[in-house]
Amino acid sequence: MDAIDVIRAKRDGGALTPEQIDWAVDAYTRGAIADEQMAALAMAILLRGMTRPEVARWTEAMIRSGERMDWSALDRPTTDKHSTGGVGDKITLPLAPLVAACGAAVPQLSGRGLGHTGGTLDKLESIPGWRASLSNAEMLDVLRSAGAVICAAGSGLAPADRKLYALRDVTGTVESIPLIASSIMSKKIAEGTGALVLDVKVGSGAFMKTADDARELAETMVAIGKDHGLRTVALLTAMDRPLGNAVGNAVEVAESVEVLAGGGPSDVVELTLALAREMLAAAGLSGKDPADALKDGSAMDVWRRMISAQGGDPDAPLPTARETHTVTTPSTGVLTRLDAYGVGVAAWRLGAGRARKEDPVSFGAGITCHAKPGDTVTEGQPLLTLHTDDETRLPRALESLEGAYEIGGPPSLHPLLIDRIS
Ligand code: URA
Repeated sequence: MDAIDVIRAKRDGGALTPEQIDWAVDAYTRGAIADEQMAALAMAILLRGMTRPEVARWTEAMIRSGERMDWSALDRPTTDKHSTGGVGDKITLPLAPLVAACGAAVPQLSGRGLGHTGGTLDKLESIPGWRASLSNAEMLDVLRSAGAVICAAGSGLAPADRKLYALRDVTGTVESIPLIASSIMSKKIAEGTGALVLDVKVGSGAFMKTADDARELAETMVAIGKDHGLRTVALLTAMDRPLGNAVGNAVEVAESVEVLAGGGPSDVVELTLALAREMLAAAGLSGKDPADALKDGSAMDVWRRMISAQGGDPDAPLPTARETHTVTTPSTGVLTRLDAYGVGVAAWRLGAGRARKEDPVSFGAGITCHAKPGDTVTEGQPLLTLHTDDETRLPRALESLEGAYEIGGPPSLHPLLIDRIS
């Protein structure tokens, strides 16, 4: 087989054969196809698309490039959630222990943030001592002792995706629905979960800016899951404003702990409960209402066990930033817009995110929102608090907030829960 023939076939709008797909993914993983050739193929896929059978085969080839995890030694059903990422999306933190408190095992392999969306591992690493890298045996131990584990994927899991995602990141080929769907689903299927709930975000702060694109991505991923015998459901949820009030790392951990303590912002609680109910139903568990597990402290107990089992101190004070700056409300009225993308970029520029994979993040940096769209605000009241360790970062962060909020304009928000695809 020849890489140029495969590239030409897709460039000219044809469907790749199963043999071409298996060969291309395997040869790229082994280094037999050069980066520039895979970049050309990824661009051809982005421009020409893929049929459902092609996406299914591509996903299968990526799964086969590495190990498949196995949780059959556990005495509980496994269930997991994947979010396509957004601003203030800390839902995994309260959700994993909550679902474990209701009887499931949650093996969550999570990622780091890149660009304006945050990463679950960066948030959790703000807890002193907490470790993201675990061996498979350690993951199993934490699952047995706590019921939930959140950690980094090992290098043996879908190595083809690891290599291809890094290439797509620098060749303008991330935004392809077949490539996103196969990337996410290859990792989730290889992770070995028995059920999967996808939170596909829609809006300025998300990959998918429109509900139509998000629906297509969700349908593609749900179909891949079902083809592999994985019970898969997707919710389309709003990402046109930040989720909750906190955007950053330590500030999001603190907000998640509030939710586990029975408080927290109503949108974070609503989405956490909606996803928990879907995860439990997909795992065939309907005994305990997750709302009760937030009230009776059982979800908090799992959180504390899970953090301690990974070396973290759940009672340690979280890092705070050295400097704060308050943005006040310019007039009185109803806050009709608080743009997720603008707030996400501002938090990133304050140091909460990274520009390159190797960069460190600042745990204390981020933004606290004092009002959300729909709230009535008074001129001069605090609207946003910016946290940073480096005050020279403030001007650029403030620049990205220009035009990111509006008082008294036409309200045009998505409902938090937009659609359900199963
Ligand atoms: N997240 C992934 O894991 N892969 C993609 O391609 C995009 C987002």
